[in-house]
Amino acid sequence: MSRARECQPTLNGTNVIIRPWHIDDADAVYAACQDSAIQRWTTVPSPYGRSDAIDYVTSIAASAWMDGGGIFAIVVAATGRVAGSIGAHRMAAGVAHIGYWSVPDLRGNGFVTEALRIVTRWFLIERRGARVELVVEPANGASTRVAERAGFTFEGILRQWMDLRGRRIDVAMYSFIPTDIGGALRDSHS
Ligand SMILES: CC(C)(COP(=O)(O)OP(=O)(O)OC[C@H]1O[C@@H](n2cnc3c(N)ncnc32)[C@H](O)[C@@H]1OP(=O)(O)O)[C@@H](O)C(=O)NCCC(=O)NCCS
Repeated sequence: MSRARECQPTLNGTNVIIRPWHIDDADAVYAACQDSAIQRWTTVPSPYGRSDAIDYVTSIAASAWMDGGGIFAIVVAATGRVAGSIGAHRMAAGVAHIGYWSVPDLRGNGFVTEALRIVTRWFLIERRGARVELVVEPANGASTRVAERAGFTFEGILRQWMDLRGRRIDVAMYSFIPTDIGGALRDSHS
Protein backbone atom coordinates (compact mmCIF):
# COMPACT_ATOMS: atom_id res chain seq x y z
CA MET A 1 0.00 0.00 0.00
CA SER A 2 1.31 3.47 -0.82
CA ARG A 3 2.14 5.83 2.01
CA ALA A 4 -0.60 8.20 0.79
CA ARG A 5 -3.32 5.59 1.27
CA GLU A 6 -1.98 4.17 4.51
CA CYS A 7 -3.56 5.81 7.59
CA GLN A 8 -1.38 7.34 10.28
CA PRO A 9 -2.05 5.17 13.33
CA THR A 10 -3.27 5.95 16.82
CA LEU A 11 -0.97 4.43 19.46
CA ASN A 12 -2.37 3.68 22.89
CA GLY A 13 -0.30 4.01 26.04
CA THR A 14 -1.16 3.92 29.72
CA ASN A 15 -1.59 7.61 30.46
CA VAL A 16 -1.41 9.02 26.95
CA ILE A 17 -2.84 8.36 23.52
CA ILE A 18 -0.69 9.24 20.53
CA ARG A 19 -2.90 10.18 17.61
CA PRO A 20 -2.79 12.11 14.33
CA TRP A 21 -3.44 15.84 14.50
CA HIS A 22 -6.85 17.23 13.47
CA ILE A 23 -7.79 20.70 12.29
CA ASP A 24 -9.80 21.09 15.52
CA ASP A 25 -6.51 20.97 17.44
CA ALA A 26 -5.18 24.19 15.90
CA ASP A 27 -6.29 26.40 18.81
CA ALA A 28 -4.52 24.16 21.33
CA VAL A 29 -1.32 24.20 19.27
CA TYR A 30 -1.52 27.98 18.86
CA ALA A 31 -1.95 28.48 22.62
CA ALA A 32 0.87 26.09 23.56
CA CYS A 33 3.36 27.54 21.12
CA GLN A 34 3.15 31.00 22.74
CA ASP A 35 5.18 29.44 25.60
CA SER A 36 8.64 30.92 26.06
CA ALA A 37 10.31 27.52 26.63
CA ILE A 38 8.92 26.12 23.37
CA GLN A 39 10.03 29.28 21.60
CA ARG A 40 13.47 29.06 23.16
CA TRP A 41 14.31 25.39 22.75
CA THR A 42 12.58 24.37 19.53
CA THR A 43 12.47 25.50 15.92
CA VAL A 44 8.79 26.55 15.93
CA PRO A 45 8.17 29.87 14.16
CA SER A 46 8.65 32.90 16.39
CA PRO A 47 6.37 34.78 16.76
CA TYR A 48 3.88 31.92 16.41
CA GLY A 49 0.62 32.80 14.65
CA ARG A 50 -2.72 31.05 14.17
CA SER A 51 -1.81 30.28 10.55
CA ASP A 52 1.34 28.50 11.81
CA ALA A 53 -0.84 26.27 13.99
CA ILE A 54 -3.24 25.52 11.14
CA ASP A 55 -0.32 24.69 8.83
CA TYR A 56 1.17 22.43 11.49
CA VAL A 57 -1.91 20.27 12.06
CA THR A 58 -2.73 20.07 8.32
CA SER A 59 0.00 20.41 5.70
CA ILE A 60 3.11 19.97 7.86
CA ALA A 61 1.72 16.87 9.57
CA ALA A 62 0.55 15.45 6.22
CA SER A 63 3.96 16.08 4.63
CA ALA A 64 5.79 14.40 7.49
CA TRP A 65 3.63 11.30 7.02
CA MET A 66 4.17 11.28 3.25
CA ASP A 67 7.93 11.63 3.83
CA GLY A 68 8.02 8.49 5.98
CA GLY A 69 7.84 10.23 9.36
CA GLY A 70 4.93 11.11 11.57
CA ILE A 71 3.86 14.05 13.72
CA PHE A 72 1.41 13.09 16.46
CA ALA A 73 -0.68 14.78 19.13
CA ILE A 74 0.04 13.58 22.67
CA VAL A 75 -3.36 13.36 24.35
CA VAL A 76 -4.10 12.72 28.03
CA ALA A 77 -5.87 9.36 28.07
CA ALA A 78 -8.06 10.28 31.04
CA THR A 79 -9.37 13.56 29.66
CA GLY A 80 -8.74 13.70 25.92
CA ARG A 81 -6.90 17.00 26.34
CA VAL A 82 -3.94 17.76 24.08
CA ALA A 83 -0.78 17.57 26.22
CA GLY A 84 1.83 18.12 23.54
CA SER A 85 3.32 17.13 20.22
CA ILE A 86 5.85 14.52 19.20
CA GLY A 87 7.20 14.01 15.72
CA ALA A 88 9.61 11.81 13.82
CA HIS A 89 11.32 13.83 11.11
CA ARG A 90 14.13 13.75 8.60
CA MET A 91 13.74 10.07 7.97
CA ALA A 92 16.67 8.81 5.95
CA ALA A 93 18.39 5.44 5.77
CA GLY A 94 16.27 4.09 8.61
CA VAL A 95 17.11 6.95 10.99
CA ALA A 96 14.41 9.11 12.61
CA HIS A 97 15.03 12.38 14.36
CA ILE A 98 12.42 12.97 17.07
CA GLY A 99 11.28 16.33 18.45
CA TYR A 100 8.62 17.19 21.05
CA TRP A 101 7.03 19.88 23.17
CA SER A 102 4.37 19.87 25.85
CA VAL A 103 1.61 22.17 27.05
CA PRO A 104 3.04 24.22 29.96
CA ASP A 105 0.42 23.46 32.62
CA LEU A 106 0.58 19.71 31.92
CA ARG A 107 4.35 19.35 32.32
CA GLY A 108 5.94 17.09 34.88
CA ASN A 109 3.33 14.33 34.55
CA GLY A 110 5.50 11.95 32.56
CA PHE A 111 3.36 12.35 29.42
CA VAL A 112 6.21 13.21 27.05
CA THR A 113 8.48 10.49 28.45
CA GLU A 114 5.73 7.93 27.82
CA ALA A 115 5.05 9.39 24.36
CA LEU A 116 8.74 9.16 23.47
CA ARG A 117 8.84 5.50 24.47
CA ILE A 118 5.75 4.75 22.40
CA VAL A 119 6.83 6.58 19.23
CA THR A 120 10.37 5.18 19.44
CA ARG A 121 9.01 1.64 19.70
CA TRP A 122 6.55 2.26 16.86
CA PHE A 123 9.32 3.49 14.58
CA LEU A 124 11.79 0.72 15.38
CA ILE A 125 9.30 -2.16 15.37
CA GLU A 126 6.41 -1.19 13.12
CA ARG A 127 8.39 0.93 10.68
CA ARG A 128 11.45 -1.34 10.92
CA GLY A 129 13.69 1.63 11.67
CA ALA A 130 17.38 1.30 12.54
CA ARG A 131 17.95 4.22 14.88
CA VAL A 132 16.13 7.05 16.63
CA GLU A 133 18.01 10.26 17.36
CA LEU A 134 17.33 13.14 19.72
CA VAL A 135 19.38 16.30 19.76
CA VAL A 136 19.03 18.43 22.88
CA GLU A 137 20.77 21.56 24.05
CA PRO A 138 22.73 20.48 27.13
CA ALA A 139 21.17 23.31 29.15
CA ASN A 140 17.66 22.00 28.46
CA GLY A 141 17.35 20.02 31.67
CA ALA A 142 13.75 18.86 31.17
CA SER A 143 14.39 17.48 27.69
CA THR A 144 17.64 15.84 28.76
CA ARG A 145 15.71 14.15 31.56
CA VAL A 146 13.00 12.95 29.16
CA ALA A 147 15.66 11.37 26.91
CA GLU A 148 17.34 9.62 29.82
CA ARG A 149 14.08 8.41 31.40
CA ALA A 150 12.99 6.98 28.04
CA GLY A 151 16.19 4.92 27.93
CA PHE A 152 18.13 6.84 25.31
CA THR A 153 21.94 6.68 25.31
CA PHE A 154 24.00 9.87 25.43
CA GLU A 155 26.60 9.68 22.65
CA GLY A 156 28.39 12.98 23.04
CA ILE A 157 28.33 16.65 22.24
CA LEU A 158 28.11 17.73 18.60
CA ARG A 159 29.80 21.10 18.49
CA GLN A 160 28.06 23.97 16.71
CA TRP A 161 25.72 21.42 15.16
CA MET A 162 22.81 23.69 14.30
CA ASP A 163 21.61 27.22 13.92
CA LEU A 164 18.69 28.04 16.22
CA ARG A 165 17.34 31.49 15.34
CA GLY A 166 20.76 32.97 14.76
CA ARG A 167 22.49 31.11 17.60
CA ARG A 168 24.98 28.46 16.50
CA ILE A 169 24.56 25.81 19.20
CA ASP A 170 26.24 22.71 20.57
CA VAL A 171 23.83 19.78 21.06
CA ALA A 172 23.84 16.56 23.04
CA MET A 173 23.20 13.57 20.76
CA TYR A 174 21.04 10.77 22.21
CA SER A 175 20.10 7.59 20.38
CA PHE A 176 17.98 4.49 20.72
CA ILE A 177 18.47 1.38 18.55
CA PRO A 178 16.51 -1.89 18.26
CA THR A 179 18.79 -3.83 20.62
CA ASP A 180 17.96 -1.27 23.34
CA ILE A 181 14.37 -2.54 23.37
CA GLY A 182 13.74 -4.66 26.41
CA GLY A 183 14.33 -2.08 29.08
CA ALA A 184 12.53 1.22 29.17
CA LEU A 185 10.28 0.64 26.18
CA ARG A 186 9.08 -2.87 26.92
CA ASP A 187 8.58 -2.21 30.64
CA SER A 188 5.99 0.45 30.05
CA HIS A 189 4.26 -0.47 26.84
CA SER A 190 4.15 -4.13 26.12
C1 LIG B 1 10.96 19.08 27.47
C2 LIG B 1 9.46 18.97 27.69
C3 LIG B 1 8.79 18.46 26.43
C4 LIG B 1 9.22 17.99 28.85
O1 LIG B 1 7.82 17.87 29.00
P1 LIG B 1 7.17 17.23 30.32
O2 LIG B 1 5.72 17.17 30.03
O3 LIG B 1 7.56 17.97 31.54
O4 LIG B 1 7.86 15.82 30.31
P2 LIG B 1 7.79 14.65 31.42
O5 LIG B 1 6.82 15.01 32.50
O6 LIG B 1 7.59 13.38 30.67
O7 LIG B 1 9.28 14.60 32.01
C5 LIG B 1 9.94 15.75 32.42
C6 LIG B 1 11.12 15.35 33.31
O8 LIG B 1 12.03 16.44 33.36
C7 LIG B 1 12.20 16.83 34.72
N1 LIG B 1 12.46 18.26 34.68
C8 LIG B 1 11.59 19.25 34.49
N2 LIG B 1 12.23 20.44 34.46
C9 LIG B 1 13.55 20.16 34.64
C10 LIG B 1 14.72 20.94 34.71
N3 LIG B 1 14.69 22.26 34.57
N4 LIG B 1 15.91 20.31 34.91
C11 LIG B 1 15.97 18.96 35.03
N5 LIG B 1 14.89 18.16 34.97
C12 LIG B 1 13.70 18.76 34.77
C13 LIG B 1 10.92 16.41 35.41
O9 LIG B 1 11.09 16.29 36.80
C14 LIG B 1 10.69 15.07 34.73
O10 LIG B 1 11.56 14.09 35.21
P3 LIG B 1 11.04 12.91 36.21
O11 LIG B 1 10.03 12.13 35.42
O12 LIG B 1 12.26 12.13 36.52
O13 LIG B 1 10.44 13.62 37.38
C15 LIG B 1 8.82 20.34 28.10
O14 LIG B 1 9.54 20.87 29.20
C16 LIG B 1 8.81 21.34 26.97
O15 LIG B 1 7.88 21.38 26.16
N6 LIG B 1 9.87 22.18 26.90
C17 LIG B 1 9.95 23.18 25.82
C18 LIG B 1 10.18 22.53 24.47
C19 LIG B 1 11.43 21.64 24.45
O16 LIG B 1 12.38 21.89 25.17
N7 LIG B 1 11.38 20.61 23.61
C20 LIG B 1 12.49 19.69 23.45
C21 LIG B 1 13.54 20.28 22.56
S1 LIG B 1 14.97 19.17 22.46
